[in-house]
Amino acid sequence: MPAEQVIDELRALRTGDLPTHGGRTLAYVYDSGREGLDDLAARAHALASSANGLDPTAFPSLLRMENEIVAAAAALLGGGPSAVGSVTSGGTESCMLAVHAARAARPDVERPKVVLASTAHAAFHKAAHYFGIEAVTVPVDPASFRADPAAMTAAIDDRTVLVVVSAPSYAHGVIDPVPEVAAQAAARGVRCHVDACIGGWVLPYFRALGEPVPDFDLSVPGVTSLSVDLHKYAYCPKGTSVLLHADASLRRSQFFASAAWPGYTMLNSTMQSTRSGGPLAAAWAVLNHLGDEGYRSLAAQALSAVQALRSGIAGIDGLRIQGEPQSTLLSVTADDDGFDVFTVADEMTERGWYLQPQFGFESSPANLHLTVTAANHGGEAGLLADLASAVAAARRSGPVTLPAELTAAIAGLDPAALTAEQFAGLLAMAGLEGSGTPKRMAEINAMLGVASPVLRERLLVEFLGVLYTAS
Ligand SMILES: Cc1ncc(COP(=O)(O)O)c(C=O)c1O
Repeated sequence: MPAEQVIDELRALRTGDLPTHGGRTLAYVYDSGREGLDDLAARAHALASSANGLDPTAFPSLLRMENEIVAAAAALLGGGPSAVGSVTSGGTESCMLAVHAARAARPDVERPKVVLASTAHAAFHKAAHYFGIEAVTVPVDPASFRADPAAMTAAIDDRTVLVVVSAPSYAHGVIDPVPEVAAQAAARGVRCHVDACIGGWVLPYFRALGEPVPDFDLSVPGVTSLSVDLHKYAYCPKGTSVLLHADASLRRSQFFASAAWPGYTMLNSTMQSTRSGGPLAAAWAVLNHLGDEGYRSLAAQALSAVQALRSGIAGIDGLRIQGEPQSTLLSVTADDDGFDVFTVADEMTERGWYLQPQFGFESSPANLHLTVTAANHGGEAGLLADLASAVAAARRSGPVTLPAELTAAIAGLDPAALTAEQFAGLLAMAGLEGSGTPKRMAEINAMLGVASPVLRERLLVEFLGVLYTAS
């Protein structure tokens, strides 16, 4: 195919995606709204995408950019002169590496455990799963959704290699009591990781703007590592995060070397081996271009948007914000049972917005997640007007009710023994045969909502297999 035709085809394919710019997609994407930023990042990416971070001595430009990025992150997030770090491919890799480093530093511990506040990102469950570690989840305070330091402390034992808290948590946007938890972990000689993947590049600027941001970063005694994603509130293209450690001795066990084969001695700082210089260079370009001043003004825009949305949503009859969010994330639930929040999500989709459904979990009922970015500034009134009309429409449809036979079929499924045929039968019962994702999701979400979390995981993995079918 001629090059132009390939690009046209790609452009056509992309029209079916959620919009990544303009503030209408309130999850997955982070839009600065700054003219020219994408272009700068794309040019930087193109200049370095063929360079390979596998060998930093062969590509010293990548080494230099990575060291500069880590220094900037450490300076922003309370790292002292001994702080060190690595640039990874994203938040999940940073979180997994923090778990790996903590476990690898304790070869004396058999059957290691990580203690997680129950609101910790699923990346930590993935780490536990991949590395054969036990994840101990500790319920958070049922009203504030913040970690409970006493309960976290009680969960630490001789097998604990890491304690994890968030700043903020993805689901509710609240900041865990980092100083209390970190102090208790330190008293027991256990590492403490702060997952600031989503908040790390915006909370320091909120503080500079006068917001009361509680202490959460590497300057807090006992915090041994911290993750912050550049592809979130640093508004860099997808594919970069930073994992910081308080000092080099804590990072050593993160690294991997193998001379146990006849080729080059493999020496990796992160999970990847060959590492494109593209995302790194793009991030370096964006960070240098925006600078402290740029981030401060983008944070001011995001702050003003999240404040306007928070008070506007509280004023919509039937909606309620969960907890006391302290960053850029909102969790919105229904205040009465006259409608279903997942129907509100569908109604918003019809109005050109994407709000992310979150299932009920512990004391948190089914709700909608909003990741608010600088690009939402100026569009708050439009979003609120559409949200009010979406709630009114959801009320007119009434709550979703599932056919009794479907609920019974779900209740009768054994996640451990689910077959492809049972899954196909379930899809048929729900009227979901055929390819493609359905436009309205409320019924599917209701169905997934009545399934136990373990069954939900199993059903969705089955669904993934159906989606990823080579064509
Ligand atoms: C708090 C937190 N940790 C980790 C992650 C995982 O990041 P990624 O999706 O970049 O792997 C996220 C993503 O939203 C997050 O919010």
